[in-house]
Amino acid sequence: MQNSNQKHNKFYVTTPIYYVTARPHLGSLYSTLLADVAARYHKVAGQEVFFLTGTDEHGQKVAQAAEKAGMKPKEFTDSFIDDYTSVWNTYNIAYDYFIRTTDQQHIAGVQTWLQRLIAQGDIYKGSYKGWYCTPCESFVTEKDSQETEVGKALTCPDCSRLTGEVFEECYFFKLSAYQDRLLAFYEENPNFITPKERMAEIVNFVKGGLKDLSISRTTVSWGIPFPDDNLHVTYVWADALNNYITAIGYGDDSRAQELAKWWPADLQIMGKDIVRFHAIYWPAFLMASGLAMPKKLLVHGWIKVGDQKMSKSLGNAIDPMQLAQDYGVDEMRYYLTRKMAITQDSEFKFEDISQSINAELANAFGNLLNRMATLVVKNEATHLNPPAQWSHSSLELQKQCQIICDDVWSLVDQGMLYRAVARIWDYINLVNAYFHEHEPWKVIKHDREKFLEIMSATVHSLQIIGILLWPVMPAKMELMLNSLGCPFDTSINYKESMKTMSWKNSFIIQQIATLFAKSEIKKEDIEEVTQAAQPQVKPAQQAVIKTPEVTQASVTPAAKPVENGTENIGIEDFIKLDLRIGTIIDCEIVTGSDKLLKSQVDFGPLGMRQVLSGIRKHYSPEEMKGKQGLFVVNLKPRKMMGFDSHGMMLFALDELSGLKIVGLVEQVAPGTKVG
Ligand code: MSP
Repeated sequence: MQNSNQKHNKFYVTTPIYYVTARPHLGSLYSTLLADVAARYHKVAGQEVFFLTGTDEHGQKVAQAAEKAGMKPKEFTDSFIDDYTSVWNTYNIAYDYFIRTTDQQHIAGVQTWLQRLIAQGDIYKGSYKGWYCTPCESFVTEKDSQETEVGKALTCPDCSRLTGEVFEECYFFKLSAYQDRLLAFYEENPNFITPKERMAEIVNFVKGGLKDLSISRTTVSWGIPFPDDNLHVTYVWADALNNYITAIGYGDDSRAQELAKWWPADLQIMGKDIVRFHAIYWPAFLMASGLAMPKKLLVHGWIKVGDQKMSKSLGNAIDPMQLAQDYGVDEMRYYLTRKMAITQDSEFKFEDISQSINAELANAFGNLLNRMATLVVKNEATHLNPPAQWSHSSLELQKQCQIICDDVWSLVDQGMLYRAVARIWDYINLVNAYFHEHEPWKVIKHDREKFLEIMSATVHSLQIIGILLWPVMPAKMELMLNSLGCPFDTSINYKESMKTMSWKNSFIIQQIATLFAKSEIKKEDIEEVTQAAQPQVKPAQQAVIKTPEVTQASVTPAAKPVENGTENIGIEDFIKLDLRIGTIIDCEIVTGSDKLLKSQVDFGPLGMRQVLSGIRKHYSPEEMKGKQGLFVVNLKPRKMMGFDSHGMMLFALDELSGLKIVGLVEQVAPGTKVG
């Protein structure tokens, strides 16, 4: 890849700032991880990136939680900061600045903002009688609430909890004055909110009429005091939303250049529960401040457990630190980025993590790297040069690579990160197909040049896959790219160089230990989640033991198959099977069949038996001789190509490498029972 070293433009990305009433859970990690992945893609695209995250520390909710804990509010919020930063550090979240709303410079910035808006008449003093939702720190109007019976407390439209009635003197922001400008802005910027459906909700809400917004409280003292009116503290959203500008110098004249450099934000990420604050109040605040609108809001759905939002208060929150330990950091980054669809809510399942690690990371991707490296090492081809001329199929692979790269960058620009990753997997599948179709392990026996071409095309592809997946799995991809002799380099504008990609690189390959270890789902994990949430999470998908197609036909299924698995059976059904270990003494092909091998198997006390298996494409008779395997020995004998089969050998079906003998770790006597 060429080093065009271009840092021609900037990318400013933000996460919501988190309430610090408890430790971060997987839902909090999700918003932050999306921002990190986006930030890294834009770094790969040669942009100068500023990535902001932080904590939202004021308000009644925090004050109440601190009181309950017998602590002062600031002491209480301080106690959570390490929890946040250690989760972010564990997950390799490369934020540039961590803002706390209790930081002096943020407080000063908000006070300057208030002063300016009071002076220009956008903030005025009045009184408020109405309903307040403390958990959401938001005022609720009758229009928002479903519960409007006279005399009855309103319910919060966001969390459905009952609100409390408040009557206070307070400051208002003239939101109503911005209704038309907001609508005009949405109209001119139809891509302001991704996904688009969220935009329609916002437009409808604004069209329904906007009331001025109460932005101060006198009954709460834990907040930013109003300038020249200390009885009032700033209502949390007017405090919190401004973090996006105070972090880059708003309110501090000595940092005016910094503000001008980074604002407007290019991407602001948030969950669907807080889109209204970001898509209505925030643009109106900015309009009043004479600042430009953010370029894009990316609104993601919730991570759910058993159909409920994962949250601390529901007691179904999952600890990201434990997951990192059990499954690995990059594996979790991959799972969250790819499997949680941004556009909708997604169900969290432990078995899905194991499934994606095993099928996608270990099998489809890790195996490809491993096979390539094993072959080049074995055949002394670790110093790999491009061929003088690429064959048609390699050029076709290169063409597909180009198309997929273009798609990936376009999806990244739209914020559709999960789809970008899925598209990269399309390419991994293509490379796997190319590799297996060309059978380099056979080609090496008669055509070394061709072998080297296949290896070179595979390694060029792996390099591009490594770069494209670096934002999602930085540590693993750096490891892989190092092993290919092309270390990842943040100073390269890879997006640019991919546009004019030509496969002319030389590589020095080193074989590394398995990139992705297979994962086993832990039973305790499933039990923990199923206890916390209803309906129950389904039990782990078991490793499927398959029989080759020919012998399978002779088995009567113990239970009716259903989609995505099999029905549960009782132990009474299972014990009907007589499973034994047998040692293959002799094995030969069955003349006239391209599938069958005929084995003579020693079953100890049961004697020698003849067993036919449809495995000729996967094993040679020589490879079978002397092997021990697992057999069902009480199936009715079956005739195949004129020979009787007195048992069925079991195999595991690996989607990529085909059938594999189900073997033992230690040898046992032939005929040993299994169960
Ligand atoms: N403090 C406000 C945001 C102020 S931004 C100026 C807040 N904090 S929060 O801690 O409650 O939520 C922060 C983010 O975490 C939100 O984007 C929210 O959607 C996200 N998540 C919290 N639980 C979640 C899931 N179960 N799933 C996905 N994300 C969710 O709101």
